[in-house]
Amino acid sequence: MTKPQGQDGRSKPIRLTEVGPRDGLQNESRFLPTKSKVAFIEALAATGVDEIEAGAFVSPKAVPQMSDSDEVFRLIRRAAPVVYSALVPNERGLERALAACAQKVAVFTAASETFTRKNIDATISESLRRFEPVVTRARAAGVPVRGYISTVAFCPYEGRIPPDRVVDVLQRLLDLGVDEIALGETIGRAAPPDIRRLLDAALAHLAPDRLAFHCHDTYGLGVANSLVAWHEYGLTLFDASAGGLGGCPYAPGASGNVATEDLVYAFKASGAIINVNEAQVVEAARAVAQELGHPLASRLSQVVGQAGAKPVSSL
Ligand code: HMG
Ligand code: MG
Repeated sequence: MTKPQGQDGRSKPIRLTEVGPRDGLQNESRFLPTKSKVAFIEALAATGVDEIEAGAFVSPKAVPQMSDSDEVFRLIRRAAPVVYSALVPNERGLERALAACAQKVAVFTAASETFTRKNIDATISESLRRFEPVVTRARAAGVPVRGYISTVAFCPYEGRIPPDRVVDVLQRLLDLGVDEIALGETIGRAAPPDIRRLLDAALAHLAPDRLAFHCHDTYGLGVANSLVAWHEYGLTLFDASAGGLGGCPYAPGASGNVATEDLVYAFKASGAIINVNEAQVVEAARAVAQELGHPLASRLSQVVGQAGAKPVSSL
């Protein structure tokens, strides 16, 4: 397969997965009460996002902040066009996800052995063996599966990760039968040249409409990297976190995902088709930030609704 023409993707709408309720909240030191999580998810559903990663059916010892995901899924009032998805590390997680009526599940591994060991207590090969029955059973139940690959450019423990190691894991996940791959730039350190090398390699193995880009924003390059993935490579599936909340508990020092509102603004300003209301995203994130007791990391949160600031639409 040759590198796709970016234009193909650029004429298609962006599909945004809001990962704040999972990736955002999993790394907060303060546990956000279940009813606040539910209110956050319901507010996000009204912003126009396509999918919400609403929780994680992982071990509560590994990530206590997600220990109430069963209850969160039970309580949310669902908005029909939105897909409510969740992380599942193993068959036990899948059973919980199916019981909670998650509409899509995500298995997760990495391109770095050390990160995989710390995150899910397995080698990469062990993790893939663990996913085999998960993918088979999810698909038999009509639930689509995303396969995350973390540390696609840098690992907090092993440093730079060459694209061929990512491609190896990507191909093995495709062989298992996942519907979509998400490339996790876990520590937010990559720059556009790294993303180009990665996507040149990855897109030889699957079409851009099956490849999601999930980046963290530690060094402030999340928007730039996402624009490269969209404009030059035609990707249309992007993850972001309202307010830029979050990070991974097993990636010390890494910040939250690129902020949804900043990414939506950048896409709109660059001519992409995207139907998310960035001002509403800021409002949803502000309510959570107030409870968590810290300010938001996003740029737009410093503009939207502040005294004297112009509305974003008129900037
Ligand atoms: P383990 O200790 O090897 O597994 O953990 P285990 O099978 O021995 O189980 C240990 C305990 O967990 C047992 O309880 C199990 O019952 C329980 P105990 O007997 O000690 O009381 N357990 C579970 N409980 C509820 N639901 C389950 C479940 N599974 C086991 N599904 C395991 C292995 C994978 C389970 C664990 O390490 C884990 O849950 N890890 C999750 C780590 C995590 O969630 N990390 C953050 C998400 S990944 C991320 O943020 C990156 C991403 O955003 C992309 C990017 O940015 O790159 C996706
Ligand atoms: Mg992440």
